[in-house]
Amino acid sequence: MNDRENEIVTSTLKPGEEDIELSLRPQKLTQYVGQDKVKEILEIFIESAKMRNQPLDHVLLSGPPGLGKTTLANIISNEMNVNIRVTSGPAIERPGDLAAILTNLNENDVLFIDEIHRLNKSVEEIMYPALEDYALDIIIGKGPSARSIRLDLPKFTLIGATTRSGMLASPLRDRFGVLCNLDFYNNEDLQRIVLRSAVIMNIEISEEGAKEIAKRSRGTPRIANRLLKRVRDYALVKSNGSIDISTADKALRMFEIDEIGLDKLDRRILNTIIDYYKGGPVGLDTLAASIGEEKGTIEDVYEPFLLQIGFINRTPRGRVVTELGYKHVNKVKNNSNSNQIIIDLE
Ligand SMILES: Nc1ncnc2c1ncn2[C@@H]1O[C@H](COP(=O)(O)OP(=O)(O)OP(=O)(O)O)[C@@H](O)[C@H]1O
Ligand SMILES: [Mg+2]
Repeated sequence: MNDRENEIVTSTLKPGEEDIELSLRPQKLTQYVGQDKVKEILEIFIESAKMRNQPLDHVLLSGPPGLGKTTLANIISNEMNVNIRVTSGPAIERPGDLAAILTNLNENDVLFIDEIHRLNKSVEEIMYPALEDYALDIIIGKGPSARSIRLDLPKFTLIGATTRSGMLASPLRDRFGVLCNLDFYNNEDLQRIVLRSAVIMNIEISEEGAKEIAKRSRGTPRIANRLLKRVRDYALVKSNGSIDISTADKALRMFEIDEIGLDKLDRRILNTIIDYYKGGPVGLDTLAASIGEEKGTIEDVYEPFLLQIGFINRTPRGRVVTELGYKHVNKVKNNSNSNQIIIDLE
C-alpha cells in the first residue's frame, strides 16, 4: 500500500472516498461556499446562455486538487439543466474516442474533461474545430484516395479541469471563453463548509470546533471534510462523539497535523531543504529524490500551499525556504554569506 493512502492531509482523492464526497458535493451555485469572483462570473454567463437559449461558452477550471473543480462542473450542468458527460484527458486515447463522445452529446450538453492538460496531441487537434465550429473533420481512407469529410456536432459546452494550467497548449487555452482559477479558501469559508458537511453527516460540532478544523485544512475543502470525519472518529472513541475545540485539537495533534495544517511530509520538505541544501535553492528533481516522493506530487499537492503561505519561494535555480518557513520548523536562517565580511558602520 502506498504510504500516502494513510495520510490525512493529502488533497488528492483517496480510494474509498468517492461515496462520501458525492454526498457532500453542493448541487447548486448558492450552496457552493466561497470563490465569490468565480461564482459571480459563472452566474452571469449561465444566465445569459439561458436567456439566449445557447450553450454556455467553454469553461476552463484550474487550481490545486480538492478545491472544487469537479463540483463546479456538475453545478454548471445542473444550473443549465443539461446532461454532463464526464471523462478525463488520459482516458481519451485516440481521436476516434473523442469523436464517439462528441457525436453522442445532446444539444447544449456539458462535456467535462478532467486533467485536460494530459490530452494527447492528436486528440487535441481534432478538438479545435469541435470547439470553434461544432464540427469534426474526419479523414476517410488512406493515401491518394483519402478524403476529408466534415461532420456537424451538436452545440455543446466543454468544461476542462486542470491542476496545471501552465501545461495547457495555448491554442487549446485560447478556445475557452471563460477561465476560472480557483484559489485556496479562507478560514471562514472552510468553517462554513465544515459546518455544512457536519449537518449532512449528522455530526455534532461546535462553531469553535469547526473553526479549529478549518484552520488546519490547508485552504482545501476536501481536506476539511476529511479532517472532520477523522476528528468525529476520535470523538466517538474518546468521548461522546460531539466535537468541540479541545477534541478537535487533540485529535489533529494525534494525527500530527500542526496548528496551521502542515503534516509530516510538509515539514520533511522544509527540513530537507534547510538541512541538506542550506535552505536552497534546490531543484525539484533533487528534492523529490531526497525525500523519496514523486516529483509530480510535490509540485501539485504540497508545493502550492507552501508557496501560498510564503514558506517557500520558487526561483529560477530551484526552491528556497523563506524566513517564515525556517521559523515554522524552529530553525534560524543564516542570511549572511560566509565569505562576506559585514562591517556595521553605525
Ligand atoms: N465551494 C465548496 N463548497 C462546499 N464544498 C466544497 C466546495 N468545493 C469543494 N467542496 C467539497 O470538496 C470536495 C472536493 O471537491 P472536488 O472533487 O470538486 O475537487 P477538485 O478540484 O475536482 O479536485 P481534483 O483536482 O482532485 O479533481 C467535494 O466533494 C465537496 O464536498
Ligand atoms: Mg476533480
